[in-house]
Amino acid sequence: MLSGLERPNGEITGRTRLLGILAHPTEHVKAPPEINRIARLRGTDAVMVPLNVAPADLESLVGGLRVLKSFDGAIVTVPHKQAIIRLCDVVSPQARAVGAANVLRRDHDGRIIADQLDGIGFVEGLRHAGIEVVGKSVYIAGAGGAANAIAFALAEAGVRRLTLANRTQGKIEALREKLIAAYGNIDVGLGSGNPTDHDLIVNGTTLGMNVSDPLPLDTHLLKADMVVAEVIMEPEITPLLDAARKIGCRIHLGRHMLEHQLQLMANFLGL
Ligand SMILES: NC(=O)c1ccc[n+]([C@@H]2O[C@H](COP(=O)([O-])OP(=O)(O)OC[C@H]3O[C@@H](n4cnc5c(N)ncnc54)[C@H](OP(=O)(O)O)[C@@H]3O)[C@@H](O)[C@H]2O)c1
Repeated sequence: MLSGLERPNGEITGRTRLLGILAHPTEHVKAPPEINRIARLRGTDAVMVPLNVAPADLESLVGGLRVLKSFDGAIVTVPHKQAIIRLCDVVSPQARAVGAANVLRRDHDGRIIADQLDGIGFVEGLRHAGIEVVGKSVYIAGAGGAANAIAFALAEAGVRRLTLANRTQGKIEALREKLIAAYGNIDVGLGSGNPTDHDLIVNGTTLGMNVSDPLPLDTHLLKADMVVAEVIMEPEITPLLDAARKIGCRIHLGRHMLEHQLQLMANFLGL
């Protein structure tokens, strides 16, 4: 449990709680300053630091974190999101379903509890922007970590229909099976690059990060009454969002997913 004490002048004392970000490498991670800012704003005496651990050493590190009494929790990112699942004592249904966790916390008794907040952050971002997903028909491009998490969070939130499209067909077939097993009442179809007849279009691929990337779907088939959402944060306006905006679609930026996820992570970490 965090102390709830304010840290004067940002100084670390013997009471400061330790938070980490498990990654390898760690140089690129963006979350520590954001989480540390939230901790300061909430008046919580805790600090997040990078924990650079190679995949082969993850298990020993988690063993150490279990007995580290000043440790409260960590964000988990590439390449540990999948591997962390089997090392934790309690895994949330969302993390179990997606097969990956992106945050963990240490309980009083030393148990490590893992959760997956990527998809929930995406749905919260939409809701905060006034875009409701209940009963909607959603097209998702991609079947990697982000797309899996978003698909499960949308199913949990109550969408009526999901269409999955991805370069590697086997991955959307596997995702469809998992979604139907978890949410029997949802209509899950497999698509190609055609987003016709959906309310919300989501790019959950990496396509759009580089200028040479092909588009993740056929933008000529977008209609002005569709909402088009991104997971990519850089560039802020991807070629997909640019095309959607020109057609008159409402667009939703990738950064909203992260912004809302950081708040959810801070809550989970007890800040
Ligand atoms: N905004 C946020 O908070 C947030 C959170 C998490 C992730 N993200 C972003 O989400 C994006 C995806 O991340 P991820 O972790 O899901 O990555 P990932 O697991 O590596 O999945 C990548 C996806 O992109 C597809 N893809 C990659 N190159 C392609 C190509 N040349 N042609 C067609 N499809 C291609 C892959 O298709 P295949 O399956 O066929 O390989 C797969 O569906 C990244 O840009 C990441 O930064 C944003």
